[in-house]
Amino acid sequence: MTKVLMVCLGNICRSPLAEGILRSKLPSENFLVDSAGTANYHVGDRPDNRSIRVAKKYGLDISSLRGRQFGIHDFDLFDYIFVMDESNYNNVISLARNENDTNKVNFILNAVYPNQNYSVPDPYYGGDLGFENVYKMLDEACTTIANQLIEI
Ligand code: 4NP
Repeated sequence: MTKVLMVCLGNICRSPLAEGILRSKLPSENFLVDSAGTANYHVGDRPDNRSIRVAKKYGLDISSLRGRQFGIHDFDLFDYIFVMDESNYNNVISLARNENDTNKVNFILNAVYPNQNYSVPDPYYGGDLGFENVYKMLDEACTTIANQLIEI
């Protein structure tokens, strides 16, 4: 079983979308996909309604997901940890215990723009257009990630 973790700040906007999108592109017998936030503000919460809505528009139901906080044990549980932005990256890396942990972490958009460390913009304070934009970015990245993981 290959295990992939999506990480953002709140685990209610970007990473639950990334989780739902990647899960839909991988066979569940061989892959586990989860998400977490670096902050604890939304532990136990449903995804933001705007994320639920844009996912539904593209045929995905993420309404049953619940927020949780990233923890050091996630380095042991997951093979790949994808972050949305530089702040997430720094927060996750600050918990890494060794090079093995560090090597698991990458910017999700590096799947499309290698080594650029581009950010998926935080859509929390914007409108629906921001969520649509985030969905498209994540969908493109997850297509590449799924193809790479299936090939490995
Ligand atoms: P996310 O967006 O990191 O994509 O889930 C946010 C959600 C909540 C907050 C910030 C970003 N917040 O400050 O509560």
